[in-house]
Amino acid sequence: MSGLVLENVVAGYRGRPVLHGVSLSVPARGSLTVVGPNGSGKSTLMKTVVGLVQPQKGRVLLEGEDVTRLDAPGRARRGLGHVPQEANVFRSLSVSENLKVAFEFIPARSGATFASRLEAVLALFPEIRPKLKVAAGHLSGGQRQMVAMAAALMPEPSVLALDEPSAGLSPKNAELLFAAIARIASTGVTLLMIEQNTRLGLAVAARGLVLVAGQVKAEAPATDLLSDGLMQSLYLGGH
Ligand SMILES: Nc1ncnc2c1ncn2[C@@H]1O[C@H](COP(=O)(O)OP(=O)(O)O)[C@@H](O)[C@H]1O
Ligand SMILES: [Mg+2]
Repeated sequence: MSGLVLENVVAGYRGRPVLHGVSLSVPARGSLTVVGPNGSGKSTLMKTVVGLVQPQKGRVLLEGEDVTRLDAPGRARRGLGHVPQEANVFRSLSVSENLKVAFEFIPARSGATFASRLEAVLALFPEIRPKLKVAAGHLSGGQRQMVAMAAALMPEPSVLALDEPSAGLSPKNAELLFAAIARIASTGVTLLMIEQNTRLGLAVAARGLVLVAGQVKAEAPATDLLSDGLMQSLYLGGH
């Protein structure tokens, strides 16, 4: 199957599992948001997907290829884009320099030029077009997240993994960012997202997954999880 698949992944730190046999799949052009309480293993799951944590058991498949033993750069070159939660831009470089570095680090597999990729990402993030010459460190938190996403999209990844995109943002900026994420999803990139803000995170994804204590508690259409009062109150801090 194309897209992204995890099969029975057991992973953790220093031999102690945090994820106890997690399976998930995001079909090509699909989107999945992982939600769950603090400490449930969401970040560990993301690190396992992108190649920063090696699973003790199980497999990670990218576009049908087993990438379990590949490191993070190897997965990036095969089309996996990643926006980490923190330190995701070069603050002293301008926005356009950030985009250039991202493109040169991982060239587009399609052979697309820098200029054409730049136009494509600026169409998704019109907010950053007037900021191209500004140092990324001088932007607002929301704008910086947009630059980080734009940089991840420069190589035209087939799968984009977003770690807590709304972390640290005001409610207003989080709304703006999620509007941009909805535009990204509509381009057909396969999207895996981890998000603390259950409402925003589930609203932009086709499906949602609830991770509790390193295990999959539920996997369902995102709208079903959003309207499931019991799930919300038990696991997601909803009311
Ligand atoms: N680098 C690490 N070394 C050891 N334990 C860790 C490390 N990172 C996370 N953990 C532990 O793994 C568990 C899950 O953490 P994490 O994946 O960050 O959950 P979440 O992102 O859902 O809050 C926690 O018990 C946490 O203490
Ligand atoms: Mg986390």
